Amino acid sequence: MIKGCIFDLDGVIVDTAKYHYLAWKELAESLGFAFTKKDNERLKGVSRMRSLDILLEIGKKNFDKETKLKFAENKNKKYLEYILKMTPDEILPGVIDFMNVLKNKNIKIALGSASKNAMTILNQLNLTNYFNAVIDGTKVSNAKPDPEVFLKGAEALNLKPEECLVFEDAEAGIEAAIKGRFKCVGIGSPEILSKANHIMPGFENIDFNEIISKL
Ligand code: BG6
Ligand code: MG
Repeated sequence: MIKGCIFDLDGVIVDTAKYHYLAWKELAESLGFAFTKKDNERLKGVSRMRSLDILLEIGKKNFDKETKLKFAENKNKKYLEYILKMTPDEILPGVIDFMNVLKNKNIKIALGSASKNAMTILNQLNLTNYFNAVIDGTKVSNAKPDPEVFLKGAEALNLKPEECLVFEDAEAGIEAAIKGRFKCVGIGSPEILSKANHIMPGFENIDFNEIISKL
């Protein structure tokens, strides 16, 4: 029986990929190469430093660790400029209604995100109070596809993985959920998320009981 839901943040609750894209693109261009929206797809669900490695691989550039940390810090400063302008209007359609249904059913809610900016984003969106637990990039040592973030989420809710349902938009996140023995729902396109137990385009007009019946 499902007693808890663990939500990824970026791409599930809010579309922050566009802001990550603008900030990474600026870095790539400052280093003299192009970074496309298609390239940005590869960074979804991936940690900040791993994202930087992928970006530098695309540009065929090599830098020492210290320089890379500086690049990541500058990228994050730019990203923060965007997310500090976000408002609750940017919460993806149907998310709030879906969370209210969960609350009414006494289903616990956790966040399981790779982002170190998760608390800032939840505050911008006025969503913090919906969560019984928040596990983000500041609380884990192993990035998705490692299941650590979801296992810690379940533990914080005092639930077993089998009792939790994970919502994810990234392939690495689906893999993490499967490795942790969670049931998972992919948010997005079936081509990328085929390993999920159920796939849906978003939360608009989604019935919780219907999802459960499809797992
Ligand atoms: C994930 C995003 O949620 O968080 C990735 O999908 C991002 O694209 C990662 O790289 C880390 O985010 P942040 O905010 O810590 O740089
Ligand atoms: Mg995501």
